[in-house]
Amino acid sequence: MVKRQTLTLITGADKGIGFETAMALGKRGQHLLVGARNQARGEQAINKLHTAGVSAELVILDVTQAGTIATAAKQIEASHGYLNVLINNAGIALDAHQPPSQLPVMTMRQDFDVNFFGLVSVTQAMIPLLKKGAPAKIINVSSNMGSLGLASDPDSRFFQVNSLGYQASKAAVNFATIDFAKELQPDHISVNSVNPGWTRTDFGGNRSGEQTVAEGAAQIVKLAADDSPDLNMTFTETAGKLPW
Ligand SMILES: NC(=O)c1ccc[n+]([C@@H]2O[C@H](COP(=O)([O-])OP(=O)(O)OC[C@H]3O[C@@H](n4cnc5c(N)ncnc54)[C@H](OP(=O)(O)O)[C@@H]3O)[C@@H](O)[C@H]2O)c1
Repeated sequence: MVKRQTLTLITGADKGIGFETAMALGKRGQHLLVGARNQARGEQAINKLHTAGVSAELVILDVTQAGTIATAAKQIEASHGYLNVLINNAGIALDAHQPPSQLPVMTMRQDFDVNFFGLVSVTQAMIPLLKKGAPAKIINVSSNMGSLGLASDPDSRFFQVNSLGYQASKAAVNFATIDFAKELQPDHISVNSVNPGWTRTDFGGNRSGEQTVAEGAAQIVKLAADDSPDLNMTFTETAGKLPW
């Protein structure tokens, strides 16, 4: 039987870690469905991928807009009929390190809309396609800032962090990983969380960070390109396992 080309959808793939992940997986022979909420930015990304010889197509996808999610799922169903890998990467951090007592609830709602409700909505919409592509995988791009273990450990540098909206939304992402992993294991769909680490992208409105974007994408790429079916319900980074 001819092996089908691995088909991978990445949300928020027009720039940053999502784009870098698309480039790296495309160079490994995967066909990329590049999720972008903005047509022009999405087309720019597709052009760069095609110039590099990567097989990729644009999927307009705003994770907060149910209509674009449904249209994206229909588009993938019509043109391919299956999906092997879903990388839930789109994310924002609107809190600017205010103490929780001063953080507007509306700001936290916006973080949750993209990082958690968006991720869950896209996942729910793509499950029928992932079942047709099984064995399949979902990779949720989380953050060490969402680790309850690190945030409550006085010896961790995350003990001092104040970003309740972002932290809580990524902790919720990790819960989505655990609960979807349990539900989808019988369907041969694995679900794992990954922390990219502090990376120099536009994220949070600055380009600070300890790592290059390639280093930030590395663990996501490793999981997405790995053929081992056993990894399920984990929270990892390049250096290894993280506490939930
Ligand atoms: N950079 C870090 O240090 C770091 C550390 C830990 C975790 N992360 C996580 O890594 C992921 C990627 O971050 P990044 O550093 O690559 O940030 P980035 O360069 O700002 O890229 C974020 C991506 O998400 C997209 N996005 C935002 N809102 C969206 C929406 N409503 N629907 C669809 N796409 C949306 C953006 O699209 P537009 O171009 O249209 O804005 C962009 O493509 C995020 O989940 C973030 O939480 C990053």
